[in-house]
Amino acid sequence: MPAPARTAQSPSSHSGPDLADRLLAWYDRHARVLPWRARAGERPDPYRVWLSEIMLQQTTVVTVGPYFARFLARWPTVEALAAAPLDDVLGAWAGLGYYARARNLHRCAQVVVSEHGGRFPQTEEGLLTLPGIGRYTAAAITAIAFGRRAVVVDGNVERVMSRMFAIAAPLPKSKPLMYEAADRLTPDARAGDYAQAVMDLGATICTPRSPRCLLCPWHTGCRAHAAGTAERYPAKAAKPERPLKRAVAFVLLKDGAVWLRRRPENGLLGGMLEAPSTPWRPAKWTAAAARAHVPVTADWVSVETVQHGFTHFTIEFDVWVARAPSRAQLADGAWRAIADFDGLALPTLTRKVLEAALAAQPPRQAARERPKPRIMPK
Ligand code: ADE
Repeated sequence: MPAPARTAQSPSSHSGPDLADRLLAWYDRHARVLPWRARAGERPDPYRVWLSEIMLQQTTVVTVGPYFARFLARWPTVEALAAAPLDDVLGAWAGLGYYARARNLHRCAQVVVSEHGGRFPQTEEGLLTLPGIGRYTAAAITAIAFGRRAVVVDGNVERVMSRMFAIAAPLPKSKPLMYEAADRLTPDARAGDYAQAVMDLGATICTPRSPRCLLCPWHTGCRAHAAGTAERYPAKAAKPERPLKRAVAFVLLKDGAVWLRRRPENGLLGGMLEAPSTPWRPAKWTAAAARAHVPVTADWVSVETVQHGFTHFTIEFDVWVARAPSRAQLADGAWRAIADFDGLALPTLTRKVLEAALAAQPPRQAARERPKPRIMPK
């Protein structure tokens, strides 16, 4: 078997079909039981496959489980999801992060219904035309939902390939090599099982640290294992440090409600709710500078600092709280009852800010009888 490129070596002494057979035999015994997987003998439902794959982009299997169950119970078909108000979908998505994905999910459902008669296209090219579906997702749906051969490469697959072929070039530059390596091992038969088997192998055996090589159905073919260097792969280019941005968030309270505004539709956390804040910037905010941005003059108290990590930066909020003066003149936002937070499009960042604020200043009304408000999603 020729090597996929200069810096990769082929897995020692095994043919692609031989490796695929061994992996599939392992998968038949050890496949993870996941809620979106079809049971033996069942045909996969493309809607469930698509929904799970969108949810799994950048999120773990454990986190996705309850969200997947709630979405399916509420919107059992692509038609039902397409007909749902966007705000309900964003609300149900809250906590999964990357809200552009939820908007694309909703738009994709609408396009599938309006332009494809409610059926997902069965080819990678067709799937790639849909909102929110990129190369990985198109390949995964093609293989898993329709049983057609497709080269499925996610982070788990990259790790497995980098070790099997001892790919020394660092990610992300080595992505084409990873794809080429995966292509060489992908069989024609049992496309969906094979795709999920490599991902399961990466998630349970070929783990980033302490891989369990002796349990691996591919260990005799693995270059990195032979050299005793599995943990060194995949090589990664040094990451630039995530810059820190700072802001002051203003949590204004009134009668069991909080004043929240909606973020602009485009951009980070587009269309989600947030407490008003100063602009986000690298420099620390002095109290005097922050005061110029308060939504209303009130007795503001600084209660806590909370941090939240985004992909490209970390945000640090100094949380200020105040009770609204009577007849406060407020623009840009609305009062939102704390009791309704569960169904609102509140990103995790906003939930952290509100949790800090409400821990410091619990709602005043009948505080003793009231259960502690639950801010973080279930
Ligand atoms: N990661 C993303 N999709 C997956 C799937 N279907 N099986 C295992 N891991 C996955």
